[in-house]
Amino acid sequence: MLRDPALIEFIDGPHDSDWTRGDHIQVYVRKSDWRVLGGSRIPALDVANAHVRPERFRGHGLFTRWLARAEQEADRRGVIVYLENVGNRRLWDFYLRRGYLPEEGSGDMCAWRPMSPEQERGILDAFLNGCPWRTNPTSMQPEEWDAVRERIRRLDAEAGRVAA
Ligand SMILES: CC(C)(COP(=O)(O)OP(=O)(O)OC[C@H]1O[C@@H](n2cnc3c(N)ncnc32)[C@H](O)[C@@H]1OP(=O)(O)O)[C@@H](O)C(=O)NCCC(=O)NCCS
Repeated sequence: MLRDPALIEFIDGPHDSDWTRGDHIQVYVRKSDWRVLGGSRIPALDVANAHVRPERFRGHGLFTRWLARAEQEADRRGVIVYLENVGNRRLWDFYLRRGYLPEEGSGDMCAWRPMSPEQERGILDAFLNGCPWRTNPTSMQPEEWDAVRERIRRLDAEAGRVAA
């Protein structure tokens, strides 16, 4: 799989949010310390805006390829891709077909990429050792860390039940 140099530069760079720029595509991304998604506190790579310009380059898969690379990079970093205020009905339907889950109660077009229990377990375990974003200190309270530990216990118990 190809990797996206602009996205990697952003992730490893000092900014918490920025436009990443490629050939004819710009995507606004953010490093979120954590979000409550599916009952879990999970660090996220937010995708907040996107443009392909000029217009004639739209509809040729540029963004689909960018997203595939972003999802792969998120998996590698132990974060979840979160879509913030998609704001384009056609694109929203594209995300839903791709398996993204609408964020309950958000009111806006926000969604997140689902994870398997094993993936969630791995992300949470790493998260306990520190937020994957180098530049962001996490703002979690002690009881929120307890919730992460409790979630891990629950995932382990459910995995045990499945195995039994
Ligand atoms: C939305 C956008 C970033 C997608 O980039 P792209 O390279 O054209 O996308 P792809 O070719 O990979 O297609 C992926 C999805 O993008 C959406 N899309 C593609 N071309 C589009 C266009 N001309 N207008 C709006 N959405 C478009 C579609 O949902 C498409 O999936 P679908 O054809 O299965 O419905 C780009 O079309 C664009 O800049 N549109 C205008 C600005 C915009 O709406 N930005 C998103 C909201 S902030």
